[in-house]
Amino acid sequence: MKVSAIAAAAPLVAALPAIHERQADASIHDAFVAAGKTYFGVATDQGLLQRESNAAIIQANFGQVTGENSMKWGSLESTQGSYNWGPADFLADWAVENGKEIRGHTLIWHSQLPGWVENIGDAETLREAIRNHVATVMGRYKGKIFHWDVVNEILNEDGTLRDSVFSRLLGEEFVQIAFEAAREADPDAILYINDYNLDQANYGKVNGMVSLVTKWVEAGVPIDGIGTQTHISEGMGANVHGALEQLASAPVNEVAITELDIRNSPVEDYTAVVQACLDVEKCTGITVWGVSDKDSWRQGDNPLLFDGSFAPKDAYNAIIEQLGA
Ligand code: G3I
Repeated sequence: MKVSAIAAAAPLVAALPAIHERQADASIHDAFVAAGKTYFGVATDQGLLQRESNAAIIQANFGQVTGENSMKWGSLESTQGSYNWGPADFLADWAVENGKEIRGHTLIWHSQLPGWVENIGDAETLREAIRNHVATVMGRYKGKIFHWDVVNEILNEDGTLRDSVFSRLLGEEFVQIAFEAAREADPDAILYINDYNLDQANYGKVNGMVSLVTKWVEAGVPIDGIGTQTHISEGMGANVHGALEQLASAPVNEVAITELDIRNSPVEDYTAVVQACLDVEKCTGITVWGVSDKDSWRQGDNPLLFDGSFAPKDAYNAIIEQLGA
């Protein structure tokens, strides 16, 4: 580098926070990869990446990002045909520039769904809307996003199909339409069905997930993975191993923990969840649902790995130790 270039860069370097302020001692992603898994990631979005230590912590410690809100249908196309790509593009570009993998979240979800989709009244219009949405969004990020939550939260607690505009007009057919459109849009993307309360073996929703996914895959629906969100409370971490094993018994190539957070972040629960993913061969990675407690959707629960001041918590350090890093 020429001297003049160093001089020009100096103010930038000086503006960076000291290393101890912007990262934990070791990368949880690097440690998890060294232990044989694919990624340890985190949910984020443009607003978060542009303030405080979020970007620096993700750059240093995590290997994958999920858009917390930016890629939902309601965020992208609240008015039919008029797309708001800014925040989703920002996230995708940031991830690519920083070498982070991306989980796309989420294509078909009853929540954060635009009113114009909710109000569709006939099956054929809805089929077309699903196909068009999946093709448009996945097409835009083809080659950048390696995992997609194609359908999200489509089951009731007893394992039956949740009531939504999708199930009312199309029954189970909407699942087939969405996954087939996704496979066509990007044949290299790994396609997931994602849900919450899949935290205990033999729970109704877990049983329903396994039997429905088995039925759909056997019928040719291209489902590659099951995502278990894992928003849990203290003491529930020990059950995750059994639940993951049961989910992995479905005929899918992989399972993943996609939105992890644990009330009060007990060390034993976090390490139990990490151990469960290590022990279940099909478990490919873990994503926590945010960097800092300050920005968690579960305000007051302090469920994440970095505290409100962006310092790594005991649970973070315990996982690093568990992974032998
Ligand atoms: O963007 C608007 C902003 O313009 C407005 O001023 C503000 C006022 O409330 O709302 C902002 O939107 C909020 C959005 O987050 C972005 O911050 C919504 O109200 C709020 O409902 C939304 O919450 C998100 C929630 O999904 C929506 O259901 C959470 O951040 C997000 O963590 C949460 O994530 C979900 C997963 O997608 C699926 N699994 C469960 C998980 C937790 O609920």
